Amino acid sequence: MKTAIYPGSFDPVTLGHLDIIRRASIMFDRMIVAVLHNQNKRPLFTVEERMELLRRTTRDLPQVEVASFDGLLADYARVQGACAIVKGLRAVSDFEYEFQMALANRKLNPELDTVFLMTSAKYMYLSSSVVKDVAMHGGSVVGFIPDEIIPDIERRARKEG
Ligand code: PNS
Repeated sequence: MKTAIYPGSFDPVTLGHLDIIRRASIMFDRMIVAVLHNQNKRPLFTVEERMELLRRTTRDLPQVEVASFDGLLADYARVQGACAIVKGLRAVSDFEYEFQMALANRKLNPELDTVFLMTSAKYMYLSSSVVKDVAMHGGSVVGFIPDEIIPDIERRARKEG
């Protein structure tokens, strides 16, 4: 059974994330979408809320499990028996940081490889930060995130804004 982990903050999940999840989930038997507990960032959604948004939008993908983790990703991957980390690459600017993380993670866990999927061109500009910024300024996030979670994001943005 080949297990992969797709880690991130997912605050909130975007159509770009879902494109990577969908494409990676056909390559592995089990795909864990793992939400990082990150004390340094001030998120829009709690970890539990982010997991619920992920579960709602991946419920048609039987290989996908949604979980959360803290500490080192390399250690979490070992505990889960994962052979790969999945990452999306949007642009050359993503590469340097991701390359460094991939090498560090393999040093920490030599059984772990990082698999990079190139973003679909239509999502190149997309990130959770862009979604939050647009929503907080009252703009439309149609085409950025799945339609079914738009009311959740708009409601939260109104409350925070
Ligand atoms: O969506 P993000 O915020 O860009 O995701 C970053 C994430 C979760 C992939 C990265 O911060 C991470 O792996 N954190 C776990 C801590 C860790 O293992 N750090 C060392 C990496 S070399």
